[in-house]
Amino acid sequence: MSESTKQGEQIDQLNETYGLPGFIRVEAGAGGLPKVLLTCDSARGELFLQGAHVTAFEPDGDEPLIFLARSARYEQGKAIRGGVPICFPWFGSKVGDSSAPSHGLARTKAWSIGSTRHDEHGVELALVTTIEPFHVTYTVRVSSSLTLTMVVVNESERSERFEQALHTYLAVSDIRKVEVRGLQGATYLDQLQGRAKCVERAPAIRFNGETDRIYLSTEPRKTVVDPGLGREILIDTEGARSTVIWNPWIEKTDRMSDLEQDEWPKMLCVETGNIADDAVELAPGERWRLSTILKSQRTEI
Ligand code: BG6
Repeated sequence: MSESTKQGEQIDQLNETYGLPGFIRVEAGAGGLPKVLLTCDSARGELFLQGAHVTAFEPDGDEPLIFLARSARYEQGKAIRGGVPICFPWFGSKVGDSSAPSHGLARTKAWSIGSTRHDEHGVELALVTTIEPFHVTYTVRVSSSLTLTMVVVNESERSERFEQALHTYLAVSDIRKVEVRGLQGATYLDQLQGRAKCVERAPAIRFNGETDRIYLSTEPRKTVVDPGLGREILIDTEGARSTVIWNPWIEKTDRMSDLEQDEWPKMLCVETGNIADDAVELAPGERWRLSTILKSQRTEI
C-alpha cells in the first residue's frame, strides 16, 4: 500500500471515530500532515496533529487572530513557524544538553485525538500524548474565543520539574504600531542580554527593535492594542505565571529560513507559560493545569 493510501485510510478512520459533521473534520493538510478543522457558528479554527499545533483561529467578522508564516515547513519532525507551538517540557535550550531540540519535544511530536464534542457555543478537541514522565492532555476549544488548556500529570514516582509555553503568534497590523499592556512592574529576563534581570517600567510596551523577554510572575490579563486593525486582543490565563514577548525584527528574520522579511511586522508572540524561575515542580501523581483564553474586541480605528 502506498504512503498516501495509508495516510488516506488513517484520515478516514479518524473522521469515522472523531469527526462531527459540520463541526469537526480531519483532512490531509500541507505536506500530507493530518489537520483538524474546527467550525462553529461564531468562528473557525485549524490544528495539525503534529505538535497539537493550532494554525488558525478566525472569529466571524474579524481578521485572523493567529499569524502563520508563508514559508512555514510542514514536515514530519519539523516545527511549524507561526500558529501556537507548544514548548514543553523545556523552553529554549535544554539546561545541560545543548544538542536537545529548542523548546522541547511536544511541538514536533505526533499527538493522538482523545475526544471531540460540540455544544451550542462552540466545538472542542482534546489531544493526548506522553512525554516521559509526563502525560499531557491539550484541549482546544473554538467559540467566539479560543481556549487552550494544557493539563500535565507527573506519572513518575519522584518529583519532576518542567517548563512550558503556548508560543502564540498573534497577527497584528504592524508591530511598530501596537502595544502590550498588563506587564508593568513585572521582572523580566532579557534574552538579548544573557537573561539579565530587568524590571518593566512601562504601562504599555511598544516595539522598535528585536525583543525577546521572559516576564516572570505576571498578572493573568494581557492586552494587545492594535489601532491598525481597530481591535484589542485580550489574553486571560490561569496556571501560567510567565509571559514571553518576542519579535525577531530584521536581522534575526534574515537568519530564519521560514520567515520572510515582510512578515516580522505582522506578528507578535505573546506566550503564556511557566519558565525559568516559574518552572513547575510536580510531586508524583500531581497535575498542573494551564489555560489561556484569547479573544478580540473592536476598538475605534
Ligand atoms: C521565543 C524565544 O519564544 O521563540 C526566542 O524567546 C526564540 O528566543 C523564538 O528565538 C523562536 O524559537 P524557534 O525555536 O521556534 O526558532
